[in-house]
Amino acid sequence: MKYGYFDNDNREYVITRPDVPAPWTNYLGTEKFCTVISHNAGGYSFYNSPEYNRVTKFRPNATFDRPGHYVYLRDDETGDYWSISWQPVAKSLDEASYEVRHGLSYSKFKCDYNGIEATKTLFVPKGEDAEVWDVVIKNTSDKPRTISAFSYVEFSFSHIQSDNQNHQMSLYSAGTSYNDGVIEYDLYYNTNDFEGFYYLASTFDPDSYDGQRDSFLGAYRDEANPLAVEQGKCFNTAQTCYNHCGSLHKQFVIQPGQEVHFVYILGIGKGNGERLRAKYQNLAEVDSAFAGIKAHWDERCAKFQVKSPNEGLDTMINAWTLYQAETCVVWSRFASFIEVGGRTGLGYRDTAQDAISVPHANPAMTRKRIVDLLRGQVKAGYGLHLFDPDWFDPEKADVKPSKSPTVVPTPSDEDKIHGIDDTCSDDHLWLVPTICKYVMETGEHDFFNEEIPYADGGVATVYDHMKAALDFSAEYVGQTGICKGLRADWNDCLNLGGGESSMVSFLHFWALQEFIDLAKFLGKDEDVKKYTIMAANVREACETHLWDDEGGWYIRGLTKHGDKIGTAQQSQGRVHLESNTLAVLSGAVSQERGKKAMDAVDENLFSEYGLHLNSPSFSTPNDDIGFVTRVYQGVKENGAIFSHPNPWAWVAEAKLGRGDRAMKFYDALNPYNQNDMIEKRYAEPYSYVQFIMGRDHQDHGRANHPWLTGTSGWAYFAVTNFILGVRTGFDGLTIDPCIPTNWPGFEVTRQWLGATYNIKVVNPDSVSKGVKSITVNGEAVNGVSVPIQPADSVNEVIVTLG
Ligand code: IFM
Repeated sequence: MKYGYFDNDNREYVITRPDVPAPWTNYLGTEKFCTVISHNAGGYSFYNSPEYNRVTKFRPNATFDRPGHYVYLRDDETGDYWSISWQPVAKSLDEASYEVRHGLSYSKFKCDYNGIEATKTLFVPKGEDAEVWDVVIKNTSDKPRTISAFSYVEFSFSHIQSDNQNHQMSLYSAGTSYNDGVIEYDLYYNTNDFEGFYYLASTFDPDSYDGQRDSFLGAYRDEANPLAVEQGKCFNTAQTCYNHCGSLHKQFVIQPGQEVHFVYILGIGKGNGERLRAKYQNLAEVDSAFAGIKAHWDERCAKFQVKSPNEGLDTMINAWTLYQAETCVVWSRFASFIEVGGRTGLGYRDTAQDAISVPHANPAMTRKRIVDLLRGQVKAGYGLHLFDPDWFDPEKADVKPSKSPTVVPTPSDEDKIHGIDDTCSDDHLWLVPTICKYVMETGEHDFFNEEIPYADGGVATVYDHMKAALDFSAEYVGQTGICKGLRADWNDCLNLGGGESSMVSFLHFWALQEFIDLAKFLGKDEDVKKYTIMAANVREACETHLWDDEGGWYIRGLTKHGDKIGTAQQSQGRVHLESNTLAVLSGAVSQERGKKAMDAVDENLFSEYGLHLNSPSFSTPNDDIGFVTRVYQGVKENGAIFSHPNPWAWVAEAKLGRGDRAMKFYDALNPYNQNDMIEKRYAEPYSYVQFIMGRDHQDHGRANHPWLTGTSGWAYFAVTNFILGVRTGFDGLTIDPCIPTNWPGFEVTRQWLGATYNIKVVNPDSVSKGVKSITVNGEAVNGVSVPIQPADSVNEVIVTLG
């Protein structure tokens, strides 16, 4: 069953049936003001942190995605009313039609009902801490119509906890006031003129207003049938105490064929309501702000565009996967309909991986995230698993701690710098390839010499931070020389402590390879020697202790008692995705074993929705292995199709030269390909999800937790760098694809270091991998690396496979 389609010309997903089985969301805001909004206009806004500085309320875990950012319309001749988004009034779909267009950083809601066509476009203009609602109401009937419009948002007490508990003190220390088209919400306890004020403004002069939620909604009512809308005007309420809303009402008489056009503005900061109200009276300013959002994404998407025989791949790579990856880099893991802001901070490993995906599209944010993470690394080399980057930002250090409840408090040093028992074994390692990729993309070679403090004192260059990460993993090994699992490795639920994790040793090997290449490039011969020896030891330990000959795959690790996890002898948790894919991706293992291991992945873990994380799932609790054995079978880390490591399999197959297999795996997980099975999938078809129920669960195929998943960054990185094979290096652009044999070729436009490369790959011999020749502007080049071309040049690159 389908609920919509991809409109690629506009980079939009168009929802044509609003009765989707779960809210399908979007992210508005490219800087500090963010709104997470569903196709029902349900959702919430926050400034910088969804835990603190929450501008509007949202009630998670309910069967409704409410409240939201609504516009109600009322026919003042009949008293009939509806909302431009299907919810909350929810007119019957037989009498009203709705369309929602989720675009990159904007959402457009359209409703056609009883001769009135209305649209509402929500977006956050660049440079403003506010959300614009651009509303147009058109009379498509043949008689004049009298239509009232009402806005509605429920203001937040600014902290998620206060919102959830309807916090006593918050109830009595916040209030609204109304003045000249602006409802201002004052968080009385917060004396900060910016963070202490939220507002809702309109470009029209309102006929009535409400700042008090309970007056607007009425007793024993909700957002579906507000009393104010029902009666045709607000109660003109604004005062201190209780719960608050922003409703501004205006009645319009609209002639047949005519339309009215106005704007609501929701934002933060005293005085900004008046300023933006005045600014957006000029609708050309609204159009130009919207064009700014479009241009923002045009510029980012243009860095890498592909035209291939796989439309789903093109759609996702050219827009949606990049968009999702960037959303993760900017908002980390803390703002969705699932994670509504219960914690503020960066997950070390997730951010370190996300950042590898967008250095071309957003180098500034990538750099910031890398620096954040390096400041959150301790001298011993490991990263602080979860931390707020502001704790270690010298520019913010003086601002805190503050008495203001809206400012994130800084914990004590002991709380910040946890010890080895609480350390994850993989966190720091991801950073090594990410930093290399960032520098390859930007050419900022000096970055390696930049000095950055450690979280626990002392300072080192970026290069030395990388060495500390590699050295930590070399030191913290178990009896066999494989890295200890510690609190967890990539798999949060695999808690091996002093047991050993094959996944981390393979990751260590990968990071070492990237680092050795870097050391060679920088001419650091001693380091090349030292880390080459380290890598050889890691490889030997892996090949000696991790291969399960009977099964023909790599085991997942060893418990602290030396018991192997993931052998052919076991009836649960027998084959694992992470160890086998990383074995190949890292380059640590032989082609022969690598091929066998990936065949085992295909045989044991593949499903039509993607690759399972392990199979069969664990059915007996075993605390030596970890919490994974206590999660329901087929769910999350215990035998679901966990999306994040799926792209590792695409890279592994690409490295093995098996393009058909790589594409089979890619196609299975690609949400685009599940657009017509939403009755199964539930979640958005334009977003990867954290996990899809595995075959050991009755809801096999149901997708859970969209948007904030490391899958997006990895999917983008795997496809662009390894399947399409276009990857930057320190001194050239490598083009070494691995594609399905039935692809006649494909085209990529890549912008890098100011030059444009129009790459045409042809595949006359129907191979998957192997470059026969490359020409750049008609001149042959040796090997698979195209030399860096001058800035501003446009270059025609022909690659022939064979
Ligand atoms: O790798 C983790 C991630 O850091 C948080 N979500 C779950 C993943 C797998 O456990």
